[in-house]
Amino acid sequence: MSDFNTVILAAGKGTRMRSALPKVLHLVGGAPMVCHAASLAQSLASKNTVVVVPKQAESIQSVLQDRPYKKISYAVQAQQNGTGHALQCAMGALPKTGHVYVINGDMPLVRKESLQALKKLHLKTKSAVSFLSATVDKPFGLGRVVRDDQKNVQAIIEEKDATAAQKKINEINVGVYLFDLAFLHKEISKLKSNNKQKEYYLTDLVALAKSRDKTVSALCLQNSLEAKGVNTIDDLNDVNKAYYLQRCQNESERGNLIVGDQVFIDFDVKLGTGLKLESPCYLKGNSNLANGVCVESGVQIKNSQIGEDSVIKANCYLDQARLKARNQIGPFAHLRPGSDFADDVKVGNFVETKKTKLGHGSKVNHLSYVGDALVGKKVNVGAGTITCNYDGKNKFKTVLEDGVFIGSDTQLVAPVKVGKGAFVGAGSTITKNVAADSLALSRVPQKEIKGWAKKRK
Ligand code: UD1
Ligand code: CA
Repeated sequence: MSDFNTVILAAGKGTRMRSALPKVLHLVGGAPMVCHAASLAQSLASKNTVVVVPKQAESIQSVLQDRPYKKISYAVQAQQNGTGHALQCAMGALPKTGHVYVINGDMPLVRKESLQALKKLHLKTKSAVSFLSATVDKPFGLGRVVRDDQKNVQAIIEEKDATAAQKKINEINVGVYLFDLAFLHKEISKLKSNNKQKEYYLTDLVALAKSRDKTVSALCLQNSLEAKGVNTIDDLNDVNKAYYLQRCQNESERGNLIVGDQVFIDFDVKLGTGLKLESPCYLKGNSNLANGVCVESGVQIKNSQIGEDSVIKANCYLDQARLKARNQIGPFAHLRPGSDFADDVKVGNFVETKKTKLGHGSKVNHLSYVGDALVGKKVNVGAGTITCNYDGKNKFKTVLEDGVFIGSDTQLVAPVKVGKGAFVGAGSTITKNVAADSLALSRVPQKEIKGWAKKRK
């Protein structure tokens, strides 16, 4: 049995980003790039995952600790002396034998399948060094893969050190490697920094392996999009676009229908199958959409849970909402944090809810604000109902028990409770609790002056 480990290089300064934020904390698909690398490492079932971080790395460690990653350890690279030096800093945390993936922390588009293919090649060829390459139109700034007449890899040469002829090569080094650990332990200290950047290049291990008569293999990616790394903010924009595209492709392969080309699914969003997502829509944060959910156009869903077969109709905004199965929301509904709905709830157009529980089968269909409310089962909240929950200082609770019917245009002045099965007549201002099974009305009695209008004419 071979043992696989992963090292993530995340200690670079990211000077080219022109930002104080460590480069690997910039967001792709709403998640820090280092989390993309860590998730990839976890999906490879790495024995150890070592993240190489700079000296003050609390921010990097805290985003990783916020997630349920297993067996992550940190190696500090106090001075940024290059990628080769970064890997040297991680060696102490790695076993003496087996294999180690090394992943640049700024490559969020690399797919697990590509690493599995690299592993296959690495084991088959018994290579000391294997790495991913790609053929790109604009290789500027990247390491070039130099091959001999037999197409065997000889070296990776960095842009700054390349000859004019080497600069014309458009096969580039992606920044994802697989090393034999015994080779690495033996040779990594031999790296030299006699190059233009005076850095220890990880990529020099390729030529070093060749000089020791070891096998080196490169796997050229079919889809060069995966090879896109982030060095500048411009790259970050490109990679974000590519990330969302890649995610939509994955989702349609998983059996989710994506209609149109403006569907944005963040990295931490989990989707079931049989969903339909209409463009434009944006699914953000830690959202979880179960099987069969339909999201119509113009919707944004953030950190929310949506139960099976629910429909979020056009132009809704959901933030920290929790919906069970078969809810029908919108069009034009705003579900704010703490909106917590049981099965078969209906919330219609121009309705806002906040910190509100709606019980099984309850409906708030039109033009209402329901905040700080506990609503039971099969409650009907009529059009234009407002929970008056705030007196300018404090918030108060409204309780509507099972089977309550609230007539249209009602104000519920909290704290207030309407008992089980009670009715509230339309146009009422309810300031006192209503007993179960009764009718509460607070309208001004209607006056009628016969013939008044006719006389006026
Ligand atoms: C590197 C490769 C280049 C490849 C490119 C792909 C080297 C010498 N060059 O260049 O061949 O085409 O990636 O994107 O490796 N890092 C550290 N410590 C350091 C320096 C960097 O941890 O001292 C980390 C960075 O945080 C980053 C990664 O290593 O995640 C790559 O570093 P970067 O400076 O971006 O390398 P490139 O110039 O892109
Ligand atoms: Ca880079």
